[in-house]
Amino acid sequence: MSLKGKKILVGITGGIAAYKIPSLIRLLIKSGAEVQVVTTPSALHFVTPLVLSTLSNKPVFSKFSDDDTGQWNSHVALANWADLMLFAPLTANTLAKMAHGQADNLLTAVYLSAKCPVFVAPAMDLDMYAHPTTKQNLQALQSFGNHVIPATSGFLASGLEGLGRMEEPENIVKFLEEYFLKKKTLANKRVLISAGPTYEAIDPVRFIGNHSSGKMGLALAQTAAEMGAEVQLVLGPNHLTITHPNIKVTHVTSASEMYDAVHQDFANSQIAIMAAAVADFTPKNMAKHKIKKGGQTFSLELEATKDILASLGKIKKDDQILVGFAMETQNEIENAQKKLHKKNLDFIVLNSLNDKNAGFKHNTNKISILDKDGRIIHYELKSKNEVAEDIFAHILQLKK
Ligand code: CTP
Repeated sequence: MSLKGKKILVGITGGIAAYKIPSLIRLLIKSGAEVQVVTTPSALHFVTPLVLSTLSNKPVFSKFSDDDTGQWNSHVALANWADLMLFAPLTANTLAKMAHGQADNLLTAVYLSAKCPVFVAPAMDLDMYAHPTTKQNLQALQSFGNHVIPATSGFLASGLEGLGRMEEPENIVKFLEEYFLKKKTLANKRVLISAGPTYEAIDPVRFIGNHSSGKMGLALAQTAAEMGAEVQLVLGPNHLTITHPNIKVTHVTSASEMYDAVHQDFANSQIAIMAAAVADFTPKNMAKHKIKKGGQTFSLELEATKDILASLGKIKKDDQILVGFAMETQNEIENAQKKLHKKNLDFIVLNSLNDKNAGFKHNTNKISILDKDGRIIHYELKSKNEVAEDIFAHILQLKK
């Protein structure tokens, strides 16, 4: 009964694997969950509302309002009710709508209103699953903090064989059970995270910045919040949206603002992870007015910024966990080890710009963890959400 008392909204879309969802609902209920089914109109070609409502013991909704009574099926109330949403099977069509914020039916509107964790179990023919658009859309969902339960390989309705089958209901339920089990491990902890770039003003128009997207830091914040932590995210300029109610965001622009915001919260945090790409230098004097172009060359005097992480390393107490990142392009391990010791960290997460699809702007990352006991763990290329889970799994291993 690991799902005891959990309110799970099951979103069914119009794919043949929908015939397996009645068994999935039974398993969820057996595990103690309360289930509310919402379907797209086309899902009802594959499975009947009577079966779904009988098994879930609740009316099934597939339209914005009831045809007979006119009663509104509020997508907002449905979204607020859920502790978790599961889209299974998820077709390529609904996936594309979710990735782009379209809300043309009740289910996609419920998704847009969701503040709870969202899981998707895609199912489609192998060529659709392999299409770059589908891959991009799944990555987009992951970048929003949604969890993808990957399709498996086997016989498909088309008669072809390959990757595209929805994961079996038993395994989907296991996925959700594991999620809730893991969720509580950071309960009552305060986690401080820095993320994104910093912008150092040259004049009112220009700045010195870097390519950081903030996605790794956001994945860390999202993961910590889902594991039950209260998260304080100090975020440099970017376009990311943060929806989890346990994440408090302080927006900053410059390295010096980030320094102040981080130091304000550090004493109250049990775990601090500095994932921001902080500028090492800032213009000594910001020009009051736009600098006009003059001669053929232009020099700018820069001065060093304060190292936020190194400063935290100096004031850190024994029961606090401090984690840094190292972005390197050469002598990666050696440089990361130097930073680990110099900044007095529990461990450092190394990502190399030499690894394909890792680092700035990507939705994936490839890391190594180097800890103060000399251990080095290398990880595969993974989504930034999975990388964040690996980092917290390592934090939980530390004896504090
Ligand atoms: N960092 C920080 N404040 C700074 C510079 C870096 O808090 N002013 C943190 C980053 O958030 C990261 C770690 O220090 O967690 C390492 O950052 P990185 O840019 O890799 O290294 P630097 O210490 O800046 O050294 P270098 O630029 O020489 O590689």
